[in-house]
Amino acid sequence: MQPKDEIDFMELLKNPSRLFGLSYIYFLVTAGFIGTYYLWNMNDVSKNATAPVVLRDSSQFVMDIPMQRGAVIPPVDVLVAGRTSKALVDKGANLYKANCASCHGDNGMGDGPSAAAMAVKPRNFHSADGWKNGRSVANMYKTLQEGIVVNGMAAFNYLPAEDRFALIHYVRTFAADYPVDSLSALQDLEKVYNLSKGSQLPPQIPVRLAMQKLETESAADAKLAAAVGTSLKGKKQEEQGAALAQRHCANGMKVAAAALHAGGLSLDEFIRSVSADPVTAGFTASVVRMSREEWSAMYAYLTKVAKERKS
Ligand code: HEC
Repeated sequence: MQPKDEIDFMELLKNPSRLFGLSYIYFLVTAGFIGTYYLWNMNDVSKNATAPVVLRDSSQFVMDIPMQRGAVIPPVDVLVAGRTSKALVDKGANLYKANCASCHGDNGMGDGPSAAAMAVKPRNFHSADGWKNGRSVANMYKTLQEGIVVNGMAAFNYLPAEDRFALIHYVRTFAADYPVDSLSALQDLEKVYNLSKGSQLPPQIPVRLAMQKLETESAADAKLAAAVGTSLKGKKQEEQGAALAQRHCANGMKVAAAALHAGGLSLDEFIRSVSADPVTAGFTASVVRMSREEWSAMYAYLTKVAKERKS
């Protein structure tokens, strides 16, 4: 059979598998182009198009429990205090000036002197925009109870409940469109916060501050310990108690701690607690052989030292 130099399309139609023989070269070339294009743009394909998360300023994180004043919150009748009255609004106006105006502004525009430096701006009470907890009395009570601490809105949970309602009613005079709470919304407030029972708010200080306090206190103890150590040396045999303390003292620091300890104990308690484990308390084991008179002299001396050093 003679090779043909032209494609006979009629014959191709009768035997379509031959089509592949003619076209695979085009597929190959096209695949080659796509592959080259892909390799060429590999950088862009594998690049991460999502920008990394920008962390908030670390000063915005709440890392510690807040400072809190202890307070006794007197009971309040939510169905009375939850409804506005002239008396409450007047009271609220004064409280507002003292507690809120620095941030929220004298006229409630959110433009108080402290607002300029704040990342999240204090709420403008004239506008319904951007409220997180909401504008009803119940919602605002929640805001005052818990604060929105991360954003700089403090909790005012130490204010008497009635003062908080007064503040809320005053704030609500800044606009005419504040939503009115249904009876059941107010009753829910009673259920959640037990307002008719009143409550007691324990004082608390941040852990960081508490640790600083402990540190200063223990530094004072160490100083006392050193002082007791030297006063034992200075007194020599003059006082029987001092002598006994010195004789039975294994370690000045520890006896100083014992002295402090003795300050809070009766003689009998002191004897019992030292005898139970003299070495840990800073005495030699022979301390347990002392007579009661000797114990009493030593006790008198140590408590006197503790008192002197404390004052
Ligand atoms: C240290 C500044 C500061 C003080 C003081 C302050 N606030 Fe705020 N307050 C804010 C900031 C900031 C916001 C906005 C918080 C947010 O958008 O997350 C806010 C928001 C609010 C909101 C809106 C809550 C919501 O649902 O979005 C209310 C209501 C409010 N404050 C009431 C008061 C009252 C009442 C007082 C006074 C007892 C007060 N604030 C004192 C800073 C303050």
